[in-house]
Parts: sequence; C-alpha cells; structure tokens
Amino acid sequence: MPREPGDLRLMTSTKTGVVSKRRVRERGAKGGRGQKTSRATLARRHTEAPPESRPRRKVIAVTSGKGGVGKTNIVTNLAIALARQGTRVLVLDGDLGLANVDLLLGISPQYDLQDAILGDRRIEDIVLEGPEGIRVVPASSGVEELANLDEYRTECLLRSLASVEADTDLILIDAPSGIGSHAVSLSQAADEIIVVTTPEPTAFSDAYAMIKVLSQRPLRCTPALLVNQANSENEASEVARRVQSVAKRFLNLEVPYWGFVLADESVPKSVIRQEPFLTTYPYSPASSCILRLARRVLGQGPEKKGDPGPGPYRLVTPDTIPEGV
Ligand SMILES: Nc1ncnc2c1ncn2[C@@H]1O[C@H](COP(=O)(O)OP(=O)(O)OP(=O)(O)O)[C@@H](O)[C@H]1O
Ligand SMILES: [Mg+2]
Repeated sequence: MPREPGDLRLMTSTKTGVVSKRRVRERGAKGGRGQKTSRATLARRHTEAPPESRPRRKVIAVTSGKGGVGKTNIVTNLAIALARQGTRVLVLDGDLGLANVDLLLGISPQYDLQDAILGDRRIEDIVLEGPEGIRVVPASSGVEELANLDEYRTECLLRSLASVEADTDLILIDAPSGIGSHAVSLSQAADEIIVVTTPEPTAFSDAYAMIKVLSQRPLRCTPALLVNQANSENEASEVARRVQSVAKRFLNLEVPYWGFVLADESVPKSVIRQEPFLTTYPYSPASSCILRLARRVLGQGPEKKGDPGPGPYRLVTPDTIPEGV
C-alpha cells in the first residue's frame, strides 16, 4: 500500500502493550485487530523509509529531567499566549504514555496518536481545535507501547507532522521527562529546546543531566533553561546560575536562561478546572510570566545578554497587557 505523509501505519506494531479501554472496545468491535503479524512483516515495516519530509515550521520542545515540574502547564499556556499574539500554534502531546495536554485544555479527543500509530487514522484526522484557535495533536495515557517509542518511530511521528503544518507557524511539543530515547529524539528534532526545572535540587540536578545527555547528540540549538515554581526572580536566577556554571565547567556549554514562572496557586486551581491559567486568571503572577516567555519565544526579548526577559518581573494589570494579548 502506498505511504503518504500523515500515514503512521508504517509504525504499526503488534507488540502487546497496555491499551486503553476505548481501544480494547474498538478492537473488539472491528474484529481482527488482534491478529498476529509475522516477524517477516514486522521486519519489512522497520526497513521501510519514513515519509520524506520533515516539518519546516519552527519546532520548540519543552522537556525536563525530572517529571512533574510543570511542562504541560507551560506548553498549554504558552500556546495560548502565542496564539493571542497571532501565532498559529500546533501543540503536539509528545508524552505518549502519560498524555494530559487534552485534560489541561478541557478537550475530549475522539481519536489520538494511538489511533494513528496503532490504528488506521491519519494524523490530520486526529488534530483538533483547542481553545483560542490553537490546534492540538492529542495522545493517549496508559499505553506502554507508545511510552517507549524508539528513535525510528519517533522520527516517523515527527515526519508525519509535515502533513499538518500548513496553517501552522510554530509546533510546540510537550515532551516527556527523562533521558529516554523518545524524549531525546523529540528534542533533537526541535529548533529550540526548553528544559524546565523547579528550584528543588533534585529537579535542577536532573535538568543538568538532561542537558548533558542532549549535548552529546547532534542538536539544532543549545538547550535553554526555564525555572518554574520559583518563589522569586532571585531564587530562579540563582538556580539558573548554578546549572549554567556546572554546564560551563563540565560540558563547556553556555546554557541560555529563558526566565522563570512564579509558584502561583492559580496554576493548580486552573488544573482542577481543566482550564489554562491564562484564561482563568489572566492577571496572575504565573500568567504574567508566561506572557513574558511568549515575548521571548517571539524574539522580543531579552534586550541584554543574560537578561531573562524584557524588564523586571511585575504583575500584569489590564493597563500593562501587551497589545494583542
Ligand atoms: N508555576 C506553578 N505554580 C504552582 N504550581 C504549579 C506551577 N506549575 C506547575 N504546577 C503544578 O505542578 C503539577 C505538575 O504540573 P504539570 O503536569 O504541568 O507538570 P509536568 O512536568 O507536565 O508533569 P509530567 O512530567 O508528569 O508530565 C501540577 O499539579 C501543577 O498544578
Ligand atoms: Mg506533563
């Protein structure tokens, strides 16, 4: 069967993974999905070349060493901040085994990457509209087979995005945490990599480990650092300075500091409401920080080397919201 962009079926495997209840139901209804595929067929599939093209749009991957540091909240809210500035954003939920971009945006996808990778949906069939005009490629949770996508399959996934990049200026990837091959491959494909940490020593030590692993691969950029859940600008700068100095000393790497997001109760409150905090609490400290990060992504900051963003942090009020936001 001829392969076209957006067709992820070449990634199909019959390895038994943990599948969602919906998936089990669908497989049962359609019948025949559980058929075994011969080793020869699998081997042939793996020698097929992935689709030729790669997305030409700018790709930003948001990743971390340690889990739970705030990547998904940053991706979803940054996407909305950028969309408000007129950027056409496509969010890829790259955390394939433990996806939750859809949860944080309050959307309920009928189909997701599992249907494209293990089923017969095309990637363009699973893209859906999120809030404020962002588009989302949703993924599934609890699918072990997807959580451990190898480099080849990750490459296929990235190339399939080429079929949905029309009408897109920026692809924002919510990448998994850790130094697994899927997380690293997703970051390798990005034009910019944001490594998120919190001020906790375990988190920034793992952020350094992630930067170290990434730096041993061919990359399009030097990974940048973002400090989330900081109690103050100074605390965030101090965390960044420590990671930067270790990276300089042991990796001879100048890690850019892309700023911080303050610890803010509006974040967990919005998570519970399944709404982006930029929508629920537009004037909160966390929203203000995300707006500043969006300006940075758009190349509107920093003015000086080492400056984490345009101007010192201040609470955004209706009078100070940037035009178009
Ligand atoms: N700036 C913040 N202030 C307060 N709480 C925050 C902040 N950012 C994230 N959190 C909280 O941290 C938790 C983890 O956030 P999130 O799910 O975005 O992390 P993650 O890095 O995507 O996690 P995972 O590695 O599991 O995918 C959430 O409960 C969220 O409410
Ligand atoms: Mg997440």
